[in-house]
Order: sequence, then structure tokens, then C-alpha cells
Amino acid sequence: MSTSNGHGVEVVIEHVRKSFEGGLIRSLEDVNLRIEPGEFISLMGPSGSGKSTLLNLIGALDRPDSGSISVGARRIEDLRNPAEYRAEIVGFVFQLHHLIPTLSALENVQMPMLGRHHSRKAREARARELLNEVGLSHRLNANPGTLSGGERQRVTIARALANRPRLLLADEPTGALDSVTGVRIMALLQKLREQYQMTTLVVTNDVAIAAIADRAYRMRDGRVEPLDEPPTPGAERQPEQA
Ligand SMILES: Nc1ncnc2c1ncn2[C@@H]1O[C@H](COP(=O)(O)OP(=O)(O)OP(=O)(O)O)[C@@H](O)[C@H]1O
Ligand SMILES: [Mg+2]
Repeated sequence: MSTSNGHGVEVVIEHVRKSFEGGLIRSLEDVNLRIEPGEFISLMGPSGSGKSTLLNLIGALDRPDSGSISVGARRIEDLRNPAEYRAEIVGFVFQLHHLIPTLSALENVQMPMLGRHHSRKAREARARELLNEVGLSHRLNANPGTLSGGERQRVTIARALANRPRLLLADEPTGALDSVTGVRIMALLQKLREQYQMTTLVVTNDVAIAAIADRAYRMRDGRVEPLDEPPTPGAERQPEQA
């Protein structure tokens, strides 16, 4: 396919707001974030702080109320065909695996490639290569139900990489795993990032994982801020009246 595929894209998020329930739930208040091409970013934050909301917007699964999100040359708000953008640019890894239980690992990894002008042979070869990369060449024909949690997560990572995404979005990819397996999965993501040079954004609540990232952020009060930034004194209180 296009030779630019496989290289990370820049992501620029400016003044993004997103609320639900007619404005009652203000998930994102004013999100600003710039991710360099090929960077590996972690995003932490308490439950309900808007992490998944933000990933959904970047992945064009939902639309911001206002503000703009650019991924490479594309402005997400202007996309005519979000499905095409997702297939061409984005790889998703979710905590819940969404693997098709009746298909083998090899078949699951081929799913995103269906209908994308690959021959059957090419699809299968690519899926084998990816499953090999994630250390599952001995489990190609296994159905998800017979794989361990960490193995299933590795299949979803292989599947997310099927179309050589330029941007990988991972929503708590290690949340359902024990911490040792979680760290292994992160090391794998990092290795794959180095290999394929895609921009990677990982939502996690594990500080060990945040520490691996090039830059670590957290969500707070509907905003994204650097993780190491100390809370600004006085930010929550108004200047005292004389
Ligand atoms: N489709 C929706 N409709 C209504 N409210 C929503 C919707 N999606 C998210 N929300 C609300 O927006 C807020 C942020 O949700 P979000 O899923 O982004 O949080 P999160 O940081 O990913 O949390 P968690 O760590 O639990 O996954 C929550 O209050 C949630 O209930
Ligand atoms: Mg979430």
C-alpha cells in the first residue's frame, strides 16, 4: 500500500470539549495535547475522568462538541468517511478483547484486512508474521476461549497492527491482567512501536506503565496535564477577599 503507512502521525488536539446527556455530564472541558509522530504517550486518570471519551474522539468513533483534533493532515471533525480513516490510520486495542470466539487467532488477526485489497494469501502471511511478533506462532489455530488473558490481549494487539496503523490507541490494554503480564504487554507495545514507528497512546492506571512512556499525562477536571506537574497551589481556591 502507500509507502507512508507505518510511520507515526502527529496528533494535535485543541480546546476539545465533550459532554453527554445534554450537557449534564461534562466529560472533557478543554483538552489540549500535541503528540509527536512516533511518540509513545501514556494517559492516566480516575474512573470517569474522560480517558475513553478522548480515545473515542481521536479514533473518530464519536465527535467533539467543539475544538479540533488533527491526525496527520486530517481534521477529524471534517472526515467524510470515519470508517475509512479508522481502517487506514488507526489501530485499536481495548481492554475487553472483542475477539470473535468462533475464529482462530490467525483468522481474528485477518479480520481488519478483509475487503482491503489483500489476497487471501497475503492476509494470512501478514497475520502469521504479526502473531509471530507477539510470540504466539505456536497458537495460530487456537480459539480465543482456549487462550490465557495475556495471550488474548496479544492477539488483539496483532489484530490492531494488521493494517499497519500510523496511530495506535490502546484503552487499558493491561487492565484485566496481573501486573507481571501487564508489564510484558507494555514492553511488547513498546517493541512494536520501535519496529513500526507508529504514534502510540495508551490509557492506563498503572504507574509502572506510565513510566515506560516517552511522556506521561493525566486527566484532571476535564483537562489533560503532564503527570509530573505538581498540582498548582491555589488553583482550586479563589484569591481571598480582603
Ligand atoms: N455515551 C455516553 N453517554 C453518556 N455518558 C457517557 C457516555 N460515554 C461516557 N460517558 C460519561 O462520561 C464520563 C467519562 O467517561 P469515560 O468513559 O471517558 O471515563 P474513563 O476515564 O474512561 O473511565 P474508566 O477509567 O472507568 O474507563 C463518565 O461520567 C461517563 O459516565
Ligand atoms: Mg475508560
